Amino acid sequence: MSKLRVLSGMQPSGQLTLGNYIGALKNYVKLQHTHDCYFMVVDLHAVTVPQEPEKLKDQSEAVTALYLAAGIDPNVATVFLQSTVSAHAELGWLMTTLTYMGELERMTQFKDKAAGKESVGAGLFTYPSLMAADILLYDTALVPVGDDQTQHLELTRDLAHRFNQRYGDTFAIPKGYFPEVGARIMSLDDASKKMSKSSPNAGSYIAMLDAPDVIRKKISRAVTDSGREVKFDPQNKPEVSNLISIYAQCADKTIAEIEAQYEGQGYGPFKKDLAEAVVAALEPIQQRYAEIRSSGELYDILRQGKERAEAQAEQMLKRVKEKMGYVVL
Ligand code: AMP
Ligand code: TRP
Repeated sequence: MSKLRVLSGMQPSGQLTLGNYIGALKNYVKLQHTHDCYFMVVDLHAVTVPQEPEKLKDQSEAVTALYLAAGIDPNVATVFLQSTVSAHAELGWLMTTLTYMGELERMTQFKDKAAGKESVGAGLFTYPSLMAADILLYDTALVPVGDDQTQHLELTRDLAHRFNQRYGDTFAIPKGYFPEVGARIMSLDDASKKMSKSSPNAGSYIAMLDAPDVIRKKISRAVTDSGREVKFDPQNKPEVSNLISIYAQCADKTIAEIEAQYEGQGYGPFKKDLAEAVVAALEPIQQRYAEIRSSGELYDILRQGKERAEAQAEQMLKRVKEKMGYVVL
């Protein structure tokens, strides 16, 4: 039996955080051995907010290098830039025409990103239709993402059903694939907000490329409640529960093991060990990252990825256009 298809992507905006790593990237690495994987850098999505050209290029390379440094093997998985496979933009347009305004108006990510802005680009609004195209182009079965993408995935499934109903069976209906622990890593300074690289307070997130001492400092300053019990209770102890999730994922321990380890010890020793667990998880990635960026191999990998992805995507786009009544030459 052929392997199930997996596809996911991250935006090349700002630095990747521990939230990106735990919520998505760790699962990319895990799935590559058992599934037929496509991992892209969604640089078309990045320009839904203004980007400086030099920075966009640098960050696209940086995210690609972080994928590889985290353990994605480009000979096993297909790694590519979204903008290099033009079928994404083309199917994105067709998906936009299939999407209702009301569906996009309900998207919480749009509401959050547009809140308080005087003017908002139309691309930010239609962003989920392009994401649907990304996924549907590849007969994707599983999409490894964090919790915040649930609503976008629901829309993708609805659009796939709608297309299939209108034009005949074409698209596979994809499912999300979420980590059991840490599908939503929260800010270190406010456990009601998700950890995000776009936060103005750098102390609120751990970047995958933060130096070990910076990581230690950020964790020592992370907000906790005034109690002292290391207990996983997201309702009543959201800050500590968030730190336990991070610990569990970085040290490959269960929540119960961590609770037992720190029983009666208070937050001090727990935070200290947590910092070391995060450093131990990220340090080897940081070393490989530096090697990959200086090796000059990135563009060859991305060229190979583009070719493989294009071969798949072009086939699907052709099928879609034929079904819709386009003259395909
Ligand atoms: P983005 O940085 O928005 O392109 O997100 C890339 C991937 O990381 C998506 O699958 C997100 O769901 C995931 N992600 C981003 N932030 C977090 C977080 N704080 N916790 C868990 N997953 C996250
Ligand atoms: N919207 C996703 C995010 O912000 C990024 C994304 C774009 C994506 N296209 C995708 C994720 C396709 C999975 C599959 O994180």
